[in-house]
Amino acid sequence: MVDAIRRLVVRGAPALGVCAAYGVVVGLDEHPSDDVAATRATLERVAAEIGGARPTAVNLSAAASRVAASARAGTTPAEVRALALAEADAIRAEDEEACRRIGEHGRTELAAARRIMTHCNTGRLATAGLGTALGVVYAKALAGEPVEVVASETRPLLQGARLTAWELVDAGIPVTVVADPAAGAALATRRVDAVVVGCDRVALNGDTANKIGTYGLAVLARAHDVPFYVAGPLSSFDPSARSAADIVIEQRPADEVRTAGGAVVAPDVDVWNPAFDVTPGELITAFVTDAGVLRPPYDATIPAALEGAGAARA
Ligand code: MRU
Repeated sequence: MVDAIRRLVVRGAPALGVCAAYGVVVGLDEHPSDDVAATRATLERVAAEIGGARPTAVNLSAAASRVAASARAGTTPAEVRALALAEADAIRAEDEEACRRIGEHGRTELAAARRIMTHCNTGRLATAGLGTALGVVYAKALAGEPVEVVASETRPLLQGARLTAWELVDAGIPVTVVADPAAGAALATRRVDAVVVGCDRVALNGDTANKIGTYGLAVLARAHDVPFYVAGPLSSFDPSARSAADIVIEQRPADEVRTAGGAVVAPDVDVWNPAFDVTPGELITAFVTDAGVLRPPYDATIPAALEGAGAARA
């Protein structure tokens, strides 16, 4: 699972959380013991290893920690495993339900937006349900409302061109892929009613880490007076991050940029390859979450939403 996460076989913040949770159970199965202390030690080791496989999406470390916190109460090895599996099942079910709610809240909020620009992949291939930003698109389509998508290809790994385009073609939803540098022209020529993206980690002040290129889209959307939404579950909000300064940005291998579609295009050149950037909260029109639509001032509305969710779970 660690290898799959690092190679992006599994990717997208909510899917990373779900896979991390089940990965802990797999880790327990790979290191069986009759001794509960040894099983608990395996639990902590495996959870730490999986939770640290990638640094930016908070769902990953949070889900692994959540499974460990629940399962360490087990008094036998079998009970530790059963508790871990139950927690993983709960995380998966919660994510599916969060996607459904995000879709419904987004459908209401974006009722007037027919042409939606998105970035990276935030749909069925990134979550346990229909998705976050793409969940809004699916909710519109399922309700019979007109919707079409402009998907940025999302260099260097092309999640937009490879995954979002595949999902939407498969679902029969009109999609137009644009090269990343075409996004500004698409906004300037009024081809887009709203930009809706996902998130990997949201700080308490609304600063949002998401796939590299998101920040540029947000600046362009502001310049062209197009609303810019972030759609994501509260599980992607980090109560311990006060601002962008508390978010670690993953650096990826240089060869992802030196190559395009498997062909080497820029050998022997220095590369800077951050996997994510941070969009400041002030560029975000609103967050579409499973707990509803959060609007500025984010340093008030985000902590209130997280406290509400914590109280509901307790
Ligand atoms: O590197 P990736 O493919 O894991 O990056 C994914 C994204 O940036 C998504 O936009 C984000 O995780 C939200 S997925 C619903």
